Amino acid sequence: MSAALRTQVGIVGSGPSGLLLAQLLHLAGVDSVVLERRSRDYVLGRIRAGVLEQTTAEILRRARVGARMDREGLVHRGVELCFGERTQRIDFSPFGASVTVYGQTELTRDLMEARDALGGKSIYEAEDVAIEGVTGGAARLRWRKDGEQHLLDCDFVAGCDGFHGVSRRSIPAAELRTHERVYPFGWLGVLADVPPVSHELIYSSHERGFALCSMRSATRSRCYVQCALDDDLREWSDERFWDELRTRLPAEAAAKLQAGPTIEKSIAPLRSFVAEPLRYGRLFLAGDAAHIVPPTGAKGLNLAARDVDQLATALIAHYRDGRDELLNVYSDAALRRIWRAERFSAWMTSVLHRFPGRTSFDRAMQIAELDYLVGSAAARAAFVESYAGTLAVTVGAAT
Ligand code: FAD
Ligand code: PHB
Repeated sequence: MSAALRTQVGIVGSGPSGLLLAQLLHLAGVDSVVLERRSRDYVLGRIRAGVLEQTTAEILRRARVGARMDREGLVHRGVELCFGERTQRIDFSPFGASVTVYGQTELTRDLMEARDALGGKSIYEAEDVAIEGVTGGAARLRWRKDGEQHLLDCDFVAGCDGFHGVSRRSIPAAELRTHERVYPFGWLGVLADVPPVSHELIYSSHERGFALCSMRSATRSRCYVQCALDDDLREWSDERFWDELRTRLPAEAAAKLQAGPTIEKSIAPLRSFVAEPLRYGRLFLAGDAAHIVPPTGAKGLNLAARDVDQLATALIAHYRDGRDELLNVYSDAALRRIWRAERFSAWMTSVLHRFPGRTSFDRAMQIAELDYLVGSAAARAAFVESYAGTLAVTVGAAT
């Protein structure tokens, strides 16, 4: 066993939550060590989120990792919604809102490079991470690497290790309440070097199921179709995927769809999940370790960024001013914001997908919801507030 390392905040997970937290803490002079189960390349190879809210972009600039996002990210001031025979654009401009399309992979790379430049310590391929002592006077992380046991003593542990991580599982079941909805379908997503169908995102609620045309750049498309949870990827040839996507788009968009070889293809299950509280002694949960939203509302990464911004502010107040009020309210304040995003994501999912056993009444309700959304200025304002994440700014609610 090697001698124990020591830091102020031990961070489990080097996804966007863990890396952004480390960066925000580092800029304020708070020391941290990041422990990641996978290799750096594996983490960089995961294709996930694409849409950043304005507030997320601001947090990234404040964390001094916004330069490439500002150069290469695509600023969108609207989305297109298709349902029945209709295509309607929801314009964000009247609300002064926008989102930035910038891949999670790129953001992760920027955060890793920023950490390297500042000399921050990250340990990859840390196996069997265990969290100990969080209800006592100090916490300790243990892990195995290259056949050796390692120890890290720390004041606090940030559980940023995603839905399947060890942090949430380290909290005794009697101390944690969980709320979950598992959806009876998944998303089949592909990445391909073909120009996007439109310069904005297209969300389509079709008789055959949901479809989404997104992008990563002017020459790279990221597209999804709703699929069965037990679908076998091998049965989804590129040709079948593009045909299905084309079928679920209105004629004008379908005519513009360019098919091409896919670079990545995967099926993601859809889930809504919240664990509460987000604190157990010296352990704080953030990001997907604490909550999951179905990707329809594009909220997961944005929620993670807000969680760690809030957690970083609270930890910095502890170290700088010796004040713990923000650490004490972290869980309650974050959960209010999280439940709002859960509400929006579940609603978007319910109006855009085809649910098994759906009746003609259910479909008519979906169409009426979407018709109301595009037809009412008040409904559009509410949508933009949630989708672009401007709610806290407009009503000054808790972060
Ligand atoms: P993760 O990214 O899961 O990172 C956790 C890290 O912890 C991982 O690197 C993992 O390897 C590591 N880890 C796990 N267990 C351990 C352990 N025991 N020890 C050490 N390390 C461990 N969100 C949006 O905001 N907008 C979108 O457009 C969007 N689209 C999405 C599309 C899809 C198809 C999917 C699947 C998700 C999408 N999301 C979106 C959600 C977003 O990707 C996640 O919310 C985000 O990755 C959460 O970041 P995180 O750092 O909390 O967790
Ligand atoms: C993506 O580009 O991956 C993406 C965009 C919007 C969503 C979900 C995913 O709602």
